[in-house]
Amino acid sequence: MQQLREAADFLRQTLQDFQPEVGIILGTGLGALVKDVEMKHSFSYADIPHFPVSTVESHAGKLLAGTLAGKRVLVMHGRFHYYEGYTMQQVVFPVRVMKLLGIEKLFVSNAAGGLAPDFEYSDLMLIEDHLNLQPTNPLIGKNYDELGPRFPDMMEPYDLGLLRLAEEAAQELGLGQYMRRGVYASLSGPMLETPAEYRYLRTIGADAVGMSTTPEVIAAVQMSLPVLAVSVITDLASPGKLKKVDIADILRTAAVAEPRLTALFRRVLEKL
Ligand code: HPA
Repeated sequence: MQQLREAADFLRQTLQDFQPEVGIILGTGLGALVKDVEMKHSFSYADIPHFPVSTVESHAGKLLAGTLAGKRVLVMHGRFHYYEGYTMQQVVFPVRVMKLLGIEKLFVSNAAGGLAPDFEYSDLMLIEDHLNLQPTNPLIGKNYDELGPRFPDMMEPYDLGLLRLAEEAAQELGLGQYMRRGVYASLSGPMLETPAEYRYLRTIGADAVGMSTTPEVIAAVQMSLPVLAVSVITDLASPGKLKKVDIADILRTAAVAEPRLTALFRRVLEKL
């Protein structure tokens, strides 16, 4: 808690009267939205006290403050994954700091494998629920009551009002054909899944699978921070569509979807 406060105090010294409204976490290969931010301040993660430092090359490691679609935003360009070796407390540290700085909503994106048979490359899946299959979670250990309750309710992990706004935004933007809704399963990674694991995930109710997002969402829900989360479908893992993928393919597919995701986030911000 002390470390969270020190990080927030450090950022506040620079941000001064800039009061962020929305926090945005950008997933693998999905960073182009930062070009649209009217930037006020930019912080390297390495300069923020107690911030973990990103180790994955496709992640930039910067916290940006500025305006996007008329809203004051904090954007995490580069996130922390459990597979990098961080503790779950480190993975969610930035989300907690952003909340201390006053954000009222959290937008999250990720790259994910598609399990639902009708998904196509570069579809956008609005996450409506999740299966947290990572080996641990950020709430294990001492509870800080300032952040939220020991036993947070998880009946509405993804805010229904934001989901509705995102669907309206997608219709207005003519993105309906790319939009899906579904359940996101998160595993630790960093290896992708075996064919049997993909079949298992489908059987237990997952529509997409990835290696992130659920820790941040769990931390956000504990803090009563409404979440909008979108998976970009970067590979297909349903029976008949499954083939070998590598990170270069994933990044290429993410790049195709990225402008749609950016347009969607911008439009939802406008509607807030
Ligand atoms: N599995 C896990 N994580 C992923 C995948 C996948 O198929 N695609 C992108 N991230």
